[in-house]
Amino acid sequence: MKGVKSVWFCSSCGAESPKWEGKCPACGEWNTMVEEKSRPSRKTRTISPSGSRAAASVPVPVSAIETSDEARIRMPSAELNRVLGGGLVAGSIILIGGEPGIGKSTLVLQNILSIKSRTILYVSGEESAKQIKMRADRIGRPSDNVFIVCETSLQSIMDHIEAIKPGLLVVDSIQTIASDELESVAGSVSQVRECASQLLKYAKETAVPVMLIGHITKEGSIAGPKVLEHIVDAVLQFEGDSQHFYRLLRAIKNRFGSTSELGIYEMCQRGLREVSNPSEMLLSHTDDDLSGVAVGVTVEGMRSFLIEVQALVSTAAYGTPQRTVNGFDYKRMNMLLAVLEKRVGFKLAAKDVFLNIAGGLKVSDPALDLAVVCAILSSNVDMPVPPRTCMAGEIGLSGEIRPVGRIEQRIREAEKLGMETILIPRHNLKGVDTSSLSIRIVEVAKVEEAFRALFA
Ligand code: TYD
Ligand code: MG
Repeated sequence: MKGVKSVWFCSSCGAESPKWEGKCPACGEWNTMVEEKSRPSRKTRTISPSGSRAAASVPVPVSAIETSDEARIRMPSAELNRVLGGGLVAGSIILIGGEPGIGKSTLVLQNILSIKSRTILYVSGEESAKQIKMRADRIGRPSDNVFIVCETSLQSIMDHIEAIKPGLLVVDSIQTIASDELESVAGSVSQVRECASQLLKYAKETAVPVMLIGHITKEGSIAGPKVLEHIVDAVLQFEGDSQHFYRLLRAIKNRFGSTSELGIYEMCQRGLREVSNPSEMLLSHTDDDLSGVAVGVTVEGMRSFLIEVQALVSTAAYGTPQRTVNGFDYKRMNMLLAVLEKRVGFKLAAKDVFLNIAGGLKVSDPALDLAVVCAILSSNVDMPVPPRTCMAGEIGLSGEIRPVGRIEQRIREAEKLGMETILIPRHNLKGVDTSSLSIRIVEVAKVEEAFRALFA
C-alpha cells in the first residue's frame, strides 16, 4: 500500500526506530524490537516563526490558575475509592491492569452497576453482550443506565460515545481495540498508544472519566508498552494468584492520590466482596503459634508485601546435613547459616535446614534476610515468633543488621496489614515521620538483639 512503511517499536519501553535493532536504543533491552506497519500522519505541524499563526494555548502564571475542587465520582466500592485517592476524578483516565481471569471485568462491572446517577458506556472487545449480562445478573441488579456495546473499532466507539454521551466510559480491554488509521493489529504498541491517546484526548476535552482495563504479561508488566503507563493518570494493579481467593488492588501510579493505598477483595460466588479488615488474611497463619514461621516485609519493584518464611531445623541424621530451599537463594541461606553459627551458636554441621517462602514466590529482596534468620532460629529453639510481628533487614557477614530501602513503605504496609510489631535495622528511620504510626517499632542492630527481642 502506498505511504505505508515499517517502523520498529520496543515492546518494553515503546521507543520507535526506523530499522530493526537487536538492542533497544532507548532502554537497552535485547530482542524487544517488533515490526509494525504505519502510515505517516496526515497532520503535519508547521511552526512559523513570523508569528502569523495565533497560538491556541496561552501560558499563564501558576498563581493565576483557577482551581476548583476536583470533582470526584465516589465509587460504590470503598476499597476502590481508597485506592483511587477518594474517588474517580472527572476527566481522568485510569488503567486497571491484571492477569487474565483475576477479576478486572468483575470489579469494574460490579461498581458501575451500582452507580445510578450517570449514564455509563461499557465497551467490551472481549465478551459478548450475553456473557456480560449473565455476569451482571450474578453480581448485581442490572440497571438501565449502563449501556453495553461489543466493539473493537476506535472510530465506532467514538460514534457510540457521540450518540450516548456517557458520564463514564469503560473500555474492556485496551488491548482489543484498534484504530482504522493504523495498519498494525490490536494490542500492538502503536495501536495501544494511539487508542489510549485518543481516549485521553476525549477524557480531557469532555471531563468524562475513562476506565481502561489492560492485561498484564507473565513478567508482571502491562502488556504492550510502558507508554500506556505514562499516558494514563492512574494505574491500578489487580493481583493475587488465581487459585487464591483474595485479590489485592493497589495503585502503582496515581496523579490524584497516594500510591501506598491497598484494597483487598475476596472472590466469592456473587462477585467480589470487600475485605475491610486485611489482617484476617494473615490471621490463619499467625494465630497458630507455630515455631519456624516468620513474617518478612519485602519490596518487589513498586510493590511491598508481607511474606511468610517457613523453616524447619532438625538434627542431621546422616553425616552431611541437608539444605533445601524454596524461593530463596541457596548460597545466601548458607551464608546466613554461617552467620548464625558464629553469632548465636547455631550448630551448623549438626542440623538439617529446610527453608520455604510461602506462596511459591521467589524473592530477591535482601531485606528478607532477617525473616529467614528468625524463622530458622524459631524452629531451632522451637519457640514461635510472637504473633503479629514482622521484620525487615539485611544481614551482613558479621551479623550486623543493615538498613534497607523504603523502610517507611514497609512499615506502613505492615501496619496496614494488621501487624503490631516490626523489627527494623537501627538507624534506618532517619527522616521518617513516625508520629502517625501506631505499630510498635523495635530497632535492632545485630542478629543477637533480634533473637533476644523475639524469644527472650
Ligand atoms: P473476570 O472478571 O472475567 O476476569 P478478567 O476480566 O480479569 O479476565 O473474572 C474471572 C474469574 O472470576 C472467573 O474465573 C470466575 C471468577 N468469578 C467468580 O468466582 N465469581 C463471580 O461472581 C464472578 C463474576 C467471577
Ligand atoms: Mg475481562
